[in-house]
Amino acid sequence: MKLFSSVNDVTDIKALVAEALALKKDPYAHQQLGKNKTLGLVFLNPSLRTRMSTQKAAFNLGMNVMVLNVDKEGWALELRDNVVMNGTTVEHIREAAAVMGQYVDIIGVRSFPGLKNREEDYTEVVFNKFVEFCGVPLVSLESATRHPLQSLADLISIEELKTKVRPKVVLTWAPHIKPLPQAVPNSFAEWMCKADVDFTITHPAGYELSTDFTRGATITTNQADALAGADFIYVKNWSAYEPYGQVFPGNEEWMLTNQKLKITNNAKIMHCLPVRRNLELSAEVLDGPNAIVVHEAGNRVWAAQVVLKQMLEAL
Ligand code: CP
Repeated sequence: MKLFSSVNDVTDIKALVAEALALKKDPYAHQQLGKNKTLGLVFLNPSLRTRMSTQKAAFNLGMNVMVLNVDKEGWALELRDNVVMNGTTVEHIREAAAVMGQYVDIIGVRSFPGLKNREEDYTEVVFNKFVEFCGVPLVSLESATRHPLQSLADLISIEELKTKVRPKVVLTWAPHIKPLPQAVPNSFAEWMCKADVDFTITHPAGYELSTDFTRGATITTNQADALAGADFIYVKNWSAYEPYGQVFPGNEEWMLTNQKLKITNNAKIMHCLPVRRNLELSAEVLDGPNAIVVHEAGNRVWAAQVVLKQMLEAL
């Protein structure tokens, strides 16, 4: 594997999940693979889980890791071509990405969307510049439109904890106080549409995701209908795709509560984290026996490790 930016970079999802679970059973079996190899993690935005789990995965494979928080420690990057750089930007991404590629064997990049210009975000301007100029294999640590390592960890968690061959998985919109990207729900939707699950998306009217990510899913604005009989419920807020990046007032009643769980099949509750308690997801659910959010975050290690392993094998 040379690029991990979406589910489309994976030839066999089932095999990838199985390999990740094998690594979970035997984390240090491939320590020689990463010997004298370096992973560079480049963050243009904050992170807890992605940063720590990907470092841990690299250490398990015997790799060295360098982390650069470009947003806080790096030079201000210019992304536009053919401009006179007489403003606040100091270094062009062409040189910056190419130089990083001189120091590391694999690069991971996190770059969130601006949520102002849909075309700019959905053409993945920042992420694709790194792909174009870094010259080494690249793994997405969350881009403007997708979060594939999160989705892989989510699928690993479902595979581990499901009690039937084809579970019902529901992605439900949740309230928030600010506009959030569509990257996590987009990504979760496109992975679930390719996995062996019965997949439903529910959200208030106005929060339709791009159909590029949801083809094959059942979509409803009736949350109760969606939750009925659910085995897994993935809770997440996102802003509107159209009008882009907007949020609409109201919809506080969409927060998941224990009362709502009564119509599910004792559903396990997922969230990528971080989560705002009693706004996006009730504390009673988060602290209850159905929440698997910490287990899910733990599986971020095995998602990252299987991807890095396949990249190391292809070097
Ligand atoms: N879920 C996730 O990606 O968490 P971080 O933003 O903390 O990395």
